[in-house]
Amino acid sequence: MNRIPISRRALLQAGVVAAGGAAFAGAPSLRGLAGSPAHDDRRNVRLEAKPGTTRLLGADGPQTAVWTYEGTVPGPVIRVRQGNRLRLDVLNGLSQPTSLHPHGIRLPNDQDGVPPLTQAPIAPGARFAQTFAVPDAGTFWYHPHIHSAEQVGRGLSGVLVVEERDPVAVDRDVVWLLDDWRLDQDGQITGDFGHFHDLSHAGRWGNVRTVNGRRAHTDVVKAGERVRLRLVNAANARIFALALKGAEGWLMAVDGQPLGRARTLTEPLLLGPGMRADLFVDIAEEGTVVLVDRIEDTPVPLAMLRTAGTVSGLAGSGTPDPLPANPVPEPAAEPQVHHRFVLSGGAMGGMAGATVGDTYQDVRALARRGLFWAINGVVPMTGEGHGHGEPMVTLARGATAVFALENATAWPHPIHLHGHSFRVISVNGQRPERPEMRDTVLLLPRETADIAFVADNPGDWMFHCHILEHQVSGMNGFVRVA
Ligand code: C2O
Ligand code: CU
Repeated sequence: MNRIPISRRALLQAGVVAAGGAAFAGAPSLRGLAGSPAHDDRRNVRLEAKPGTTRLLGADGPQTAVWTYEGTVPGPVIRVRQGNRLRLDVLNGLSQPTSLHPHGIRLPNDQDGVPPLTQAPIAPGARFAQTFAVPDAGTFWYHPHIHSAEQVGRGLSGVLVVEERDPVAVDRDVVWLLDDWRLDQDGQITGDFGHFHDLSHAGRWGNVRTVNGRRAHTDVVKAGERVRLRLVNAANARIFALALKGAEGWLMAVDGQPLGRARTLTEPLLLGPGMRADLFVDIAEEGTVVLVDRIEDTPVPLAMLRTAGTVSGLAGSGTPDPLPANPVPEPAAEPQVHHRFVLSGGAMGGMAGATVGDTYQDVRALARRGLFWAINGVVPMTGEGHGHGEPMVTLARGATAVFALENATAWPHPIHLHGHSFRVISVNGQRPERPEMRDTVLLLPRETADIAFVADNPGDWMFHCHILEHQVSGMNGFVRVA
């Protein structure tokens, strides 16, 4: 099968993986143990976006100025039980407009947090309440959906855990939000957001990778435990190739949606921006388990589980049962509609031009406006959603739609649909043995994928690349379910 190593090589060749990268050499500090996030079953959650500081490089490192939710990076872990309602009270303590998008939650359109499509931006000093039920159990996350590249890039993101109705058989639940920062020599976030090179190439890749806002984050566990590890990629653009060292692990869910069968982790797991993975990890013996990023030739440790003590837990009890399925409607075998989406543009893409609004523009004219990508030869939205007159497609409510996605560029694109989860029914022309249910599908250079879903959620839903620099420079549109 060999798909991952080849793909990784393709990324390397495309220049996606920056050489060197580490602005801060030396052994990462493993001090400052932090426990798992506290269990917090509240249904009213206050989330104030505001400036703050944190030590991304560890307790000995510099204070980095960041943008936070409630003073922390990442923001608080929100836990809510499946089927319950959540009320988010979003306050804007920034000096620019913001919004809050609960990524992956199948919620009513007017709660989706997408200016100007579903609501007005939240002005500085203003507040906005979002209330919705959470139909699916799984690992989700939240982030702004305006000025996203800068706001997410400065630290605004957090994990939203929807717990299963009946407890799942694990001994511990650990949330790890993966992020990527571009820091200068003083440990401060560089202000070069929207840099044309990032827009037209792989997006804003950074030079420091963190888990839960720290380089070399550690959680303490006990030998004998089966740990559920919830991984979220909140980076603007970085793709992780994840592997575990020191324990056996299974992939249980992707983008919050359970796999029909636990899958042994045999090769690095590619996690693009916006994507999530739930792993079960058996801590068989005392020692450490390390999550490493294998996107470069030299593996980079991201975080670890370190044992203190032993219990007789579920480790070693064999292949876990699959997580209970979510109530996502299954797409019909015979789809009612079929749409093709060709992604074009970017450096080395050979795109001659694209239509913006009513006028065709050549690449030079597009580049002058900071536009580098197109979908079916059109820039559906400029910036983050301006000029959103027309949806790319309109779907009849209840119809099964197949979107055939074709990456005709030299760059990877994690493509995300709002308001729905879809099955990836074909990858590079072949039906996977067990098609995954996802909300974000990663297309590597020149890859294709067919996704199928029931368009059961009425409204206007964003459909875009989750590399935030690509989203803002043309690979951004919406579909209407009417
Ligand atoms: Cu995670 Cu359109 O967003
Ligand atoms: Cu992209």
